[in-house]
Amino acid sequence: MAAATPVRVHGEIRVPGDKSVSHRALIFAALADGPSMLRGVLDSADVQATEGVLRALGVAMPPIPPRSRRDRPDGVMRIPGVGLHGLKPPARALQCGNSGTTTRLLAGVCAAYAFSSRFVGDASLSRRPMARVARPLRAMGARVTFDDGDGLPMTVTGGPLRTMRWQDDASSAQVKSAVLLAGLVSGVPVSVEAERVSRDHTERFLVALGADVRVTPGAVSLTPPDRLRPFELTVPGDPSSASFFAALAAMATEGTIRLADVLASPTRDAFMRTLETMGASITQESGAPTGIGEATVTYAVAPGGLRGVTIGAGDVPAMIDELPLLACVAARAEGVTVITGAAELRVKESDRIALTVSNLLAVGVVVEELEDGMRITGGRGPCRGRVVTRGDHRIAMAFGVLGAATGGEITIDDRACVAVSYPDFWSDLARVTGA
Ligand code: S3P
Repeated sequence: MAAATPVRVHGEIRVPGDKSVSHRALIFAALADGPSMLRGVLDSADVQATEGVLRALGVAMPPIPPRSRRDRPDGVMRIPGVGLHGLKPPARALQCGNSGTTTRLLAGVCAAYAFSSRFVGDASLSRRPMARVARPLRAMGARVTFDDGDGLPMTVTGGPLRTMRWQDDASSAQVKSAVLLAGLVSGVPVSVEAERVSRDHTERFLVALGADVRVTPGAVSLTPPDRLRPFELTVPGDPSSASFFAALAAMATEGTIRLADVLASPTRDAFMRTLETMGASITQESGAPTGIGEATVTYAVAPGGLRGVTIGAGDVPAMIDELPLLACVAARAEGVTVITGAAELRVKESDRIALTVSNLLAVGVVVEELEDGMRITGGRGPCRGRVVTRGDHRIAMAFGVLGAATGGEITIDDRACVAVSYPDFWSDLARVTGA
């Protein structure tokens, strides 16, 4: 089904570095036994939160170079690793901003240290559930307390930890990573079982840096090494950021957008696969491997006659962050799209089910809210109205793309919140649409 107003797209984008890999690259480089060299680390508010927390824990972190320096000699970040046991007690609270990944992964690291770390964040992060990470860390022997309920501020007092096998009901990559990091730093074997496979970057880093990791259906087990090797890495493009432009190209009237050097991971590619199933034209060229056990790919995406799809629980982890965007694409696809099994969306940077639904309604789309998802009826009508982001970067970008694909009559209340993951989003969007 074509967009109401002709929309032509063109050009190539090298989207900024992957957010999940960037957080992990900083953490593993800080814990390695010597200096690591990183290029292409995402320069965004979330990753700066991880950089700042590691600095507060005594790592001499250089600032993250801006994206514009990615290919220049001064675009390399040299991180002097302090070793697995070299972090220092923080003199101040650890400010995690809007970043759940910073909080949960570094809570795992700090749980293995015999000092207290107080994690604080912005209003959105302070509402997010942290019991999911407190429970396994307590089971390993750390003390984890909350000022109120199970949100930030959270204080982690660590020390020697016990070996543990943990069942994670949320199938969360952040919980899995927190347990693996706690086991790594305290030198005890751990395993995490989960019903669904979540993103596996932590495991891949651990293997690449010399750890013994076993992955079986439903479980990941780590026997920790004594030390981590320093490493060199160019962080590949973020598939979640690339998805916005793939969606735009799929909804456009004509043209192609190339998305160069994107992380290719079976734990992250469900949006691109779904977009193809919906009818978009997508070609792929394999790129160079990253050196930390991940592959890269360059996509070329062009419009197609889009049809609705059905997304169930099994599809969700590999496209969890792209579901608001999928709902926007579904608004322009023929027929009905049903998303279920996605209750985790309610505890992201915002309640992404309620907020996606209320914003689709606000711009004239027929949509029904479900407890664990939504049902969207596609159409050709105009999309116009005002979108409320509640500071959620992915809501701003998903509706920014829907606006660009439907004639530019959607306004976004807080465009600046994209700084969390993609500071140059609006200028890249203007470039490919010629706006
Ligand atoms: C992330 C894991 C996912 C994802 C988040 C980043 C990570 O969260 O939504 O944006 O880097 O590990 P959950 O682990 O809570 O599913």
